[in-house]
Amino acid sequence: MLDLATKVHDEARQGEAYAPFAQDPNQYKKRFYIESYGCQMNFSDSEIVASILNEQGFGATRNFEEADLVLLNTCSIREKAEQTVRKRLTEFRKQKEARPGMLIGVLGCMAERLKAKLLEEEKLVDMVVGPDAYRTLPGLIEEAETGQKAVNVLLSREETYADISPVRLNSNGITAFVSIMRGCNNMCSFCVVPFTRGRERSRDAVSIVEECTDLYRKGYKEVTLLGQNVDSYYYVADNEAPVNFAQLLEKVALIAPDLRVRFSTSHPKDITDDVLFTMAKYENICKYIHLPVQSGNTRVLQLMNRTYTREWYMAKVDRIREILPDCGISSDIIAGFCTETEEEHQDTLSIMEYSKYDMSYMFFYSERPGTLAARRYADDIPEATKKRRLTEIVNVQNRLSLASNKKDIGKTFKVLIEGNSKRSDNDWMGRNSQNKVIVFPKNEQPLQAGNYVSVHVHDCTQATLIGTIVTA
Ligand code: SAH
Ligand code: SF4
Ligand code: F3S
Repeated sequence: MLDLATKVHDEARQGEAYAPFAQDPNQYKKRFYIESYGCQMNFSDSEIVASILNEQGFGATRNFEEADLVLLNTCSIREKAEQTVRKRLTEFRKQKEARPGMLIGVLGCMAERLKAKLLEEEKLVDMVVGPDAYRTLPGLIEEAETGQKAVNVLLSREETYADISPVRLNSNGITAFVSIMRGCNNMCSFCVVPFTRGRERSRDAVSIVEECTDLYRKGYKEVTLLGQNVDSYYYVADNEAPVNFAQLLEKVALIAPDLRVRFSTSHPKDITDDVLFTMAKYENICKYIHLPVQSGNTRVLQLMNRTYTREWYMAKVDRIREILPDCGISSDIIAGFCTETEEEHQDTLSIMEYSKYDMSYMFFYSERPGTLAARRYADDIPEATKKRRLTEIVNVQNRLSLASNKKDIGKTFKVLIEGNSKRSDNDWMGRNSQNKVIVFPKNEQPLQAGNYVSVHVHDCTQATLIGTIVTA
């Protein structure tokens, strides 16, 4: 959840090191340090890992120089993401030379993709643990402590970590992410996720509602339900009626009217009218859909195995606008996929104009070993062309983001305050239902993070709305 309207992802989200705030430093015998890369799912998994490690007597630290265990939760989505992790590993090497007892573990998608090969390539790594193997961390740590290399990259068809209560890391105490499913059964030809995360499985609906209720009790005001393809959520408990995504959304929305609900990511082929009507029915389900298009050209979409056409996608956007007239829509876009022509690239630019995205994550194509595209198609668009096309896409998005924000000038929004604005402690920062960031001066009212306020927008930049509190 980046607060920039436009962000070129030529590398995965940078690693973030973090530790829970309220922790008694003497409670734990040993310290772990964890850094996360990639998508929100990975950040969410790190909170599961933290919970498992706490049980084992490991407390978190923000300083890797005092850690007994250093973990990198990694991403493989693009080559650059893996390069970033490798660079970070060489930085840890020095530390390990000074303190040979310190253990280094690679978790997540890169661990899964490279498996034991990673231990040959990166000699200082002690543990390689895939995304479905975190429950076995205690045993793996013991093994590594005896000087052996420890590996578990088994993928599971059942694991959802449903019963593990995540330890919220680096949390603002107001917004939290809740994993509702794992893996992905789609086979988008460019994508490594089905290989690194395994088969799709949905988490027990009761455990999801319990986790969200617990967050609300602790003062959280917003939950984001996470999955690679949330619309295919489907859970059947013994002797009970199945729960689909629309029904799950409703259950979470009913926890409390002042608990906001968001979700990510929707696949255009799977988002149903049912979901849209449920969004319309509940004020606290945020009017914002991340609907990655990837390309605006039907032939390219076919090569990508996205299973929808340009026209089908446009009809989906129309349907959203019809049922939810004030809904924000954002996208993911890939420039320069295999064999993409200039005309086909133009189709991507025009579908962006048609969809009027408020925001997009934009990438140039990066071939990933083992994917369908890597096996079937030549990565034949020169890098300079990919970059030029990406720049054109970014320019269109910048213009669309600014236009979208300008349209909001003069409107008043209900905003959930998340904290101080980055630039000034005299300003609050929050979001409206459409997920737009709004910055506004604190007034005399005794407000705090977690409060809802009405904010009148009088100005904007491409990335931010600027407003003032409307006093009742
Ligand atoms: N499950 C989500 C997205 C997962 S990955 C979905 O289906 O939309 C996030 C984004 O990374 C993708 O939407 C895609 O735009 C981008 N991406 C994935 N593989 C890529 C690759 N090989 N090269 C460039 N971008 C890629
Ligand atoms: Fe990757 Fe496609 Fe699955 Fe998204 S839906 S994770 S892009 S395979
Ligand atoms: Fe990266 Fe794995 Fe997420 S490849 S984007 S961390 S699912």
